[in-house]
Formats: sequence, C-alpha cells, structure tokens
Amino acid sequence: MSHEDENEGTRRDFLYYATAGAGAVTAGAAVWPLVNQMNPSADVQALSSIFVDVSGVEVGTQISVMFLGKPVFIRRRSAEEIAEARAVDLGELIDAGSENANKPGTDASDENRTLDEAGEWLVMMGVCTHLGCVPLGDGAGEFNGWFCPCHGSHYDTAGRIRKGPAPLNLPVPVAEFTDATTIKLG
Ligand code: FES
Repeated sequence: MSHEDENEGTRRDFLYYATAGAGAVTAGAAVWPLVNQMNPSADVQALSSIFVDVSGVEVGTQISVMFLGKPVFIRRRSAEEIAEARAVDLGELIDAGSENANKPGTDASDENRTLDEAGEWLVMMGVCTHLGCVPLGDGAGEFNGWFCPCHGSHYDTAGRIRKGPAPLNLPVPVAEFTDATTIKLG
C-alpha cells in the first residue's frame, strides 16, 4: 500500500465517523418529540404516588423504600434524636434555607422538616446532595444522623448537612400521613 493510499484510508475513516456522528444527532432529534409526549399528564402523575405501611417501624429505626427510582429514608426518631435536632441553632447550619423543607417557604428548622408535630417521623430522599451517593444511616457520622462515605459528608439527625462537601440538606419529598400507619409519598 502506497503512502497516498494510507492517507486515503484515513480520510475515508474520518468521513465514515463524521457521518455516523451526524446520524446519531439526527436520531436524537427524532426521539425528542416522543419523549416530550411522555411527560406525565395529571392522571399519570397521580400514579406516581406510593403508600408505605410504617406500622412495623420501631422507634429509633428506619426503612428505605424506592420512590421514582430513588431511595427514600423513612425514620422514626427517638426522643434523643428529636431533642438533638431541635437544639440546633439555625445559624450553625450550612443550608438553613427553605429548599429542602417539608413546608415550602420555610426554613430548615427541625419542625419544618419533619412530618408530624412531635418530630418523630422524618422522610427524606436518600441521596447525598454532593454527587448522589446513598448515605449510611442509623446514627452514622459525627452528628449522629447520616454519613456519606463517598467524600465524607455528615448530616445531623434531621438530615441537615453539617460537615463535608455536600452543599444542601437531604431533600424532603412531598409526603403525608393518610392514616395513623400509612405515609403517602408524592
Ligand atoms: S457524594 Fe456524598 S460526599 Fe460526595
């Protein structure tokens, strides 16, 4: 094969890849309207709620459930955990804002993040706000709440970020009790 032929071969390869690339872009554009049609309408959205039976959850323990493809922690906190969370001054928090409170437009006080007035039930997305790992629970970390071992983020007993690279508290999803032992997510 002459030197020129080799060049020719390289150019052909290049053209081939460039065409393949353009094909992929076209396919992407064609897929978009379908995806757009798949945005949930109101009735489909209603199906994206789940009901969780929490009758078996003891004080001082938690369960994890999958909701919309992500883990959700449902913790029934002990009196000590509640007291610890409620004693924290908001000025000590890295994220004292309202974004991740249970009641929109409020601050990240423990009262605003918990599901019931007594603060026994805490429901949060089990997704670290740094890069999305699932934090360890059951009193883990320096603040006795949750700890993300990926890069060392410590959350307190209300799931608020207290130390490490995560910028925000663990998000609180839309949740409510529908009866004494059932929590509806979404
Ligand atoms: S993903 Fe949790 S600390 Fe980085």
